[in-house]
Amino acid sequence: MSIDFENKLVVSDNIEYLKTLPDESIDMFIGSPPYDNLRDYSEDGYTLNIHGLGVEMLRTLKPGGVCVWVVQDACVKGTRTGSSFRTALDFMDIGFGLWETLIYQRRGVWNHKTRFRMDHEYIFVFSKGGKLAYYDKEHMKVPCKHPNKEYLGTTNIGKDGKRTKAGVIKAGEKKCNGTIFNYNFGGDGSKLKSKHPAVFPNLLALDFIECFCPPDGIVCDPYSGSGTSAVASKSSGRRYLGIDISEEYTEIGRERVATEFIQRPVERKTDTPNGKSMEDTEENDLSEDIEPNTLDNFFS
Ligand SMILES: C[S@@+](CC[C@H](N)C(=O)[O-])C[C@H]1O[C@@H](n2cnc3c(N)ncnc32)[C@H](O)[C@@H]1O
Repeated sequence: MSIDFENKLVVSDNIEYLKTLPDESIDMFIGSPPYDNLRDYSEDGYTLNIHGLGVEMLRTLKPGGVCVWVVQDACVKGTRTGSSFRTALDFMDIGFGLWETLIYQRRGVWNHKTRFRMDHEYIFVFSKGGKLAYYDKEHMKVPCKHPNKEYLGTTNIGKDGKRTKAGVIKAGEKKCNGTIFNYNFGGDGSKLKSKHPAVFPNLLALDFIECFCPPDGIVCDPYSGSGTSAVASKSSGRRYLGIDISEEYTEIGRERVATEFIQRPVERKTDTPNGKSMEDTEENDLSEDIEPNTLDNFFS
């Protein structure tokens, strides 16, 4: 069934637009708010009412739907604002579940003499209800370095601190990505996209949309910007709705949707930063007995 807000990029305040949507009409939200007013965007200006947006997203999300929230905090007078964590707790108070907190690892820029290089952002995955309506992580898996190799290990430690199950564990062909997602994307080679000052990677959008939105579902990005989520949704056969306050950015998004397609890389090589797999590092030498949690990460 066709609905009048599908496959559109609209110019609007996100809360005002979402208010016009019926309850439980969106399968998934994905978005990245302006980070504590860190950048001056276009002339259109905006106000940040993240709490109000959370309320509308929860109302319009289908049961079991997910909101993927990509964010980092500004640094003001030497301290991080912590806004991303305040939002996470506030969304939980509103009624979202915090399904997972992920790290989006990227290459930071050396522009601080007095601070660490900023190499990461947060990806909070909020859910409506405890059980997800759709979840498929197959495309996020990476090849095991030693497929079918058997490792000595333990799988569990009981409440009494004793190992409850020990034995040989066999590596598969592929392993699950952990909770750190590495995207060094360098602008994705799109001249249109480069006209927006604060975009997220194409592959990030594609990965999470294919993981959490059913193939016939509709994805909404309430901070659509240059339309990355819409291009990713369309490339993966999903429907989309993008909302942005800026006419200028929305035009860029529309042009991108009409002309760009996001191609998934044939094979993911590694799940960890700097091009090194965890299996490559000495401290994670799997020929030794290793801790249960580590095994969970490798084989789940
Ligand atoms: C971090 S950017 C998102 C960029 C996007 N992820 C991409 O890849 O192009 C945040 C966007 O939020 C928009 N924005 C700010 N306040 C808004 C509001 N109240 N309603 C809708 N959009 C808003 C800004 O115009 C800006 O384009």
